[in-house]
Amino acid sequence: MSTQREADRRPETAETGAELSEAHIAVHWKEEEYYYPPASFIAQANAADPRIFERFSEKNFPECFKEYADLLTWDRYWHTTLDTSNPPFWKWFVGGRLNACFNCVDRHLEQHRNKAAFIWVAEPEEEEDRVLTYQDLYVKVNEFAALLRDFCGVKSGDRVTVHMPMVPELPVVMLACARLGVIHSVVFGGFSGQACGERIVDSGSHILVTMDAYYRNGELLDHKAKADQAVAYAAAQGVTVDKVLVWRRHRGRYSSPTPMVAGRDYFVDELLMRYRGVRVEPVSMPAEAPLFLMYTSGTTARPKGCQHSTGGYLAYVAGTSKYYQDIHPEDTYWCLADIGWITGHSYIVYGPLALGATSVLYEGVPTYPDAGRPWRIAERLGVNIFHTAPTTIRMLRKAGPDEPQKYRYHFKHMTTVGEPIEPEVWRWYYHVVGKGEAVIVDTWWQTETGGFLASTLPALQPMKPGSCGPGVLGIYPVIYDEEGNEVPAGSGKAGNICIRNPWPGIFQTIWGQPERFVQTYYARYCKNPQSKDWRDWPYMAGDGATQAADGYFRILGRVDDVINVAGHRLGTKELENAALTVEEVAEAAAVPVMDELRGRMVEMYVALKPGYTPSSAIEEKVRTAIETIIGKIARPKHVWIVPDMPKTRSGKIMRRVVAGISNFMDPGDTTTLANPEVVETIRRQVQAAKVARGEVPRELSAEELEEVRRFGQVE
Ligand code: PRX
Repeated sequence: MSTQREADRRPETAETGAELSEAHIAVHWKEEEYYYPPASFIAQANAADPRIFERFSEKNFPECFKEYADLLTWDRYWHTTLDTSNPPFWKWFVGGRLNACFNCVDRHLEQHRNKAAFIWVAEPEEEEDRVLTYQDLYVKVNEFAALLRDFCGVKSGDRVTVHMPMVPELPVVMLACARLGVIHSVVFGGFSGQACGERIVDSGSHILVTMDAYYRNGELLDHKAKADQAVAYAAAQGVTVDKVLVWRRHRGRYSSPTPMVAGRDYFVDELLMRYRGVRVEPVSMPAEAPLFLMYTSGTTARPKGCQHSTGGYLAYVAGTSKYYQDIHPEDTYWCLADIGWITGHSYIVYGPLALGATSVLYEGVPTYPDAGRPWRIAERLGVNIFHTAPTTIRMLRKAGPDEPQKYRYHFKHMTTVGEPIEPEVWRWYYHVVGKGEAVIVDTWWQTETGGFLASTLPALQPMKPGSCGPGVLGIYPVIYDEEGNEVPAGSGKAGNICIRNPWPGIFQTIWGQPERFVQTYYARYCKNPQSKDWRDWPYMAGDGATQAADGYFRILGRVDDVINVAGHRLGTKELENAALTVEEVAEAAAVPVMDELRGRMVEMYVALKPGYTPSSAIEEKVRTAIETIIGKIARPKHVWIVPDMPKTRSGKIMRRVVAGISNFMDPGDTTTLANPEVVETIRRQVQAAKVARGEVPRELSAEELEEVRRFGQVE
C-alpha cells in the first residue's frame, strides 16, 4: 500500500498525470521515404559541416551554447553558462548584460542602415508595401520608447500589454519595450477583448497598446472596440488600465466607429509628434531579466503567462534562425505566422532581426483575394525562405492546387510548424510550393520552449514527410512511458516526449504561478526533487510521440486537455467555461474533431438545465459566447445539445467518450460510467446529424486515432 508520504514524493499532479496506458499499444507506423536536400542548398548552408554535431554533442553541454550567445553583442560578457542551483528555474549566461533591442536594431546600423528590416504587405492588394529600413526602425523604436517612458511612465520590469494586428507598428512596440527593459505581453489580435482583459489582469499591466482597425478577408475590422472590452474586464477584476495607446491603420484617419475615451485613449501618431527625433539609451539588462510574456492555454482555465528571458532566449532564437532557418544577410525571409504567437516573436521578429535579416510581414488572410496571393507576394519581393503552418498549406492546396506554378518565385528553404503535417500534404508542399528546389524543415516546439526542439538540420539530415526529425543541436529528447522508462527508438510505441536537458530558450516560469510551472512541466518525471543536477529534471512537453529506428520523432499531438485548432492552442476548460456562461447550459465538454483543413476543430457538447428545450437558438448562443469570450478561432464546428453527459460515478465528464463519437471512433470502455446508456443515445444523435450533412470522415490515420484515444486522459 502506498503511504501518503510516498504519494507526496511521487511527482504526479492533476495537470500532468497523463495516463499512458494507451502508450503501450504498439502501432505499425508507415515508414516514409527520405528526401535529400538539393546540392544548391548544401553549397550555401550556414551549417554544412557535420562537425557541428560534435560541437553540440552531449559531452559539450552546456558550453556548446556559447556559440549561440556569441551571435549577440553583450554589454558585459557572462561568466556562468548555466546555473542549476535552483531547479528547475535554470539561469543561462549568468553575469552577462545586454539589451535585446540594441541587438536587433542598433548594432546593424553600421553595416545595414539602409537595408530593409521589415517589408510590410497590406491585405488590400492595391495598397503599397511599406518598407522599414534598419534606420527607420531605429528612429521609430526610439520615439516610441520615449513615449512609453516619458508619457506613460513605464520603467524596466513593468508589463505592457499589446493587442495589435500584423502591422509593422507591432514589432516597433515590442522593440521599444525591450529597449527600456519593459516586459511586453503581446496578445494575438484575433483574441477577444475579454481574453485580452484576462491577460492584462494576470500580468498586471496598466498600459494597453492597440490599433483602431485592420483588414481581414477584405473587411476593415473594428479592433478598438476590443480595447474597451478589455479595459472594462480588467477594471471589474480590480486592474486599472491608465492609458490606451491607439495606432491608426490609415494615416490621420480614425477607422473605428468606437469612440475614444477622453483622458484614457490617445492616438499614437499625435503623441509621437512630441518625441520626434528623441533617442533613448538602451537599458542594459541582466541576461536572465524577463523579455516578454506569451500566454498559452493549459489544462485549467487560467492561461499561462510563459516568461521568456533576455539573453538565453535571444541567443537561442538567433542560433536556431541561423542554422535551421538558414538565414543569410542577403535572404528575404517570410514567415506567415502572426506575431501574436510565439512563432512570430521568435521567427519573425527576434531571430531574424538579431541576424540583421529582412523579414516580410503580411497583414491578412493568405487566400485573400485568391489562393495565388502568397505566391504573388513571394515573386514580387523575391522571398527565398518561406515559413508557415500545415493549416495554411492545406488551405492553399485546396483553394489553389496549381497556383504556385503560375509564379516565378524560388524558395531555397521552407518550414512547417505548429501541428503534425500529413505526409500527403508535405509532398504537395515539397513538389508544388517548393517546386522540388527547396529543403523543408518540420520544426516541433512550443510557446514554452522559445525556439525549435526537433527538426532536421537542413543541409545535413534528410527530410522524412510527417516526422519532424531528431532533437535539434544541443537538445536531447527522450520518450518516457507511464512508469518513467524510456521508450526505445524503433519500438513502434508511443509515450510522452520530454527533453532531458535545459537549453537557453526554455521559459523561466509561469508568470505569478511558479508552482504550476514546476508541476506542469517537471514534476511528472523528476527523478529527485532535491537534486540540483539537471539530469534529474526532464522537461515534459505534453505531447505524445514515437521515435523511429533512425532517431526521427513523429509528434502525435497533445496528451493533455488542449486542442490544437489550426495550430492554435485552446484549453478545453476555457472553452467549457465560455459555454457555461450561457444561461440555459448546465454542463459542457469540448472535444477535438479531425478536420481536413484545420487539422482539428472544436466540437462542444452541452447539457441544458432542467426546464429548457434544445433549440438552434441555444446552439448559436453557445457559439457566440465562445467567440466573444475567447475569439473567432475558437468557434466550434458543432454544438451538440445532449440529454446528459457521459460521466464516471464520481461525476467526471468523460470527454474521451464524446471525442470518440465526434470522430466516428469506438468510444472505448464505457462500463465504468454512471450512465452508460446515454452513450448510445448521443452516438445516434450526433452521427446521424453528421451523416445527414455529408460529414462522414475519411479513415483516420494511426496518429489521429492515437490522439483521440489519448484525449482527455488528464484530469
Ligand atoms: O502539439 C504540439 C504542436 O503545437 C504545440 C505547441 O503549440 P504552441 O505553443 O501554440 O506553439 C506552436 C508553434 C511552435 C505542441 O505541443 N506542434 C508544434 N509544432 C509541431 C507540432 N506538432 C507536430 N509537428 C510540429 N512540427
